[in-house]
Amino acid sequence: MRIGVFTSGGDAPGMNACIRAVVRSALAAGHEVAGISRGYSGLLAEDFLRSEDGGRRMTLRSVSDIARRGGTILHTSRSQEFRTEAGLRKAADILRKHEIDALIPIGGDGTFRGAAALARFWDGRIVGCPGTIDNDLLGTDYTIGFATAVQTAVDAVDKLRDTADAHERMFLVEVMGRHCGSIALFCAIASGAEIAAIPETPTRTDEIVRLLHEFVQRRKTSVMMIVAEGDEQGGAVELQRQLQELGCPYETRVLALGHLQRGGSPVFSDRILASRLGDFAVRAVLEGRTGVMAGEIGGRLVLTPFEETYAAHRQVDPEDMRLLQIMAT
Ligand code: F6P
Repeated sequence: MRIGVFTSGGDAPGMNACIRAVVRSALAAGHEVAGISRGYSGLLAEDFLRSEDGGRRMTLRSVSDIARRGGTILHTSRSQEFRTEAGLRKAADILRKHEIDALIPIGGDGTFRGAAALARFWDGRIVGCPGTIDNDLLGTDYTIGFATAVQTAVDAVDKLRDTADAHERMFLVEVMGRHCGSIALFCAIASGAEIAAIPETPTRTDEIVRLLHEFVQRRKTSVMMIVAEGDEQGGAVELQRQLQELGCPYETRVLALGHLQRGGSPVFSDRILASRLGDFAVRAVLEGRTGVMAGEIGGRLVLTPFEETYAAHRQVDPEDMRLLQIMAT
């Protein structure tokens, strides 16, 4: 069997470890792997990764020493053309032309929407792996890249706490997560931040200002507030404006961590998750499964239909919200 592997959408630390797992598991089982560069755009351009011998098949050496590297050796993109029926038909023709029997896309909700659409025009097998820092997919407890992104944010907040404390300031730190507060909430709990603003719960600025006055009375010298970029009140700059308007008692500074969170060497848990899911996706493909994403729930490897992975916005655990409030008091 010839399996095509690619990464798509926003890159995430651990994507390389996942590519490596797909290649090594498939080769170990006696199958071939074609690396498709630049996601769906690369597929439409027939852009296959050349291995060191110049061939179009990935070898054991193509993935040597990549598990520790951030980014993706296959590069990634967001393709407009692939969203059209003509683009999907063209992709299906290209897959047939190159005799690809199965695909393993590594990406987020956009990637799986694309995979589900492609399945209408192509009868090969498709099993995806969740690669996105956002942790916004259903069908897995964690996505590949989430743990590293949270660690990067925590490292930044730890450093900011020093200067915030020295100047007795409040920092609003904006983290990624378009529709999802997972990074913000985990970062807030792990870094000891006092407040988190996330899209899943209403952000009441008047309540926050009341709390800040309480902090002043309790002689709290610094405050860290973690803001998910998708918070319904707007990003950290807008929240800073609103808090000041309502009489925020602290001098404030804003920092948006942005794409910094997508880079860097993956932490061990992302490498393990990526290795497990890459290997599991190959086994699923070989068993004839299709139209599903490989995930891990409660320590068990599971397959979830693509449509279910993005059908609803993943909710944060209310227990984690409670934990943050207790820890911050
Ligand atoms: O892929 C997730 C994500 O990191 C979001 O949290 C963020 O809004 C988005 O990607 C930004 O990606 P880009 O700048 O690549 O479009």
